[in-house]
Amino acid sequence: MAEVDLADVAGAVLIDAAREAAANAHAPYSGFAVGAALLLTDGTIIPGTNLENASYGLSLCAEAVALAAANMAGRLRDVVAIGIVGGRITPAGLAGTEPVRPCGRCRQMLNEAAQLGGRDIAIHCASADGGAIERHRLSDLLPFAFGPADLGLQ
Ligand code: THU
Repeated sequence: MAEVDLADVAGAVLIDAAREAAANAHAPYSGFAVGAALLLTDGTIIPGTNLENASYGLSLCAEAVALAAANMAGRLRDVVAIGIVGGRITPAGLAGTEPVRPCGRCRQMLNEAAQLGGRDIAIHCASADGGAIERHRLSDLLPFAFGPADLGLQ
């Protein structure tokens, strides 16, 4: 019997949750919707989606919104993994063949959760068409990170 990789199963569940979240994106300026979903130690899933603003620079990424929600629930230190999906908004739904990878700021924000929890967060990135999925570790996407230890904390 073929082995089931539980990390892949978790990734698929997170990408589904992220896709659902992306339906609520407020992205009229970029026309690009992103959904993210955090997996916590007890199996809780916390979604987020991008929130743009007419003052463009104020826009929030899906990952940042999800992390803020986790923090509000007192669970920032419990983040184990994240799923991310996104693409161009079209009348037929989200379009795109390239996996959406977290921007630099979101990588740094994920690092805060990773350092608090002492975990190298798994990052599952998917394309809008579902044809491309990548699995990364935060330490691969953000090597030599600046974190709390550099400030003498933890
Ligand atoms: N965006 C995210 O929400 N997450 C990412 O990882 C990449 C970019 C959002 C920001 C902006 O609302 C839109 O995608 C286009 O950059």
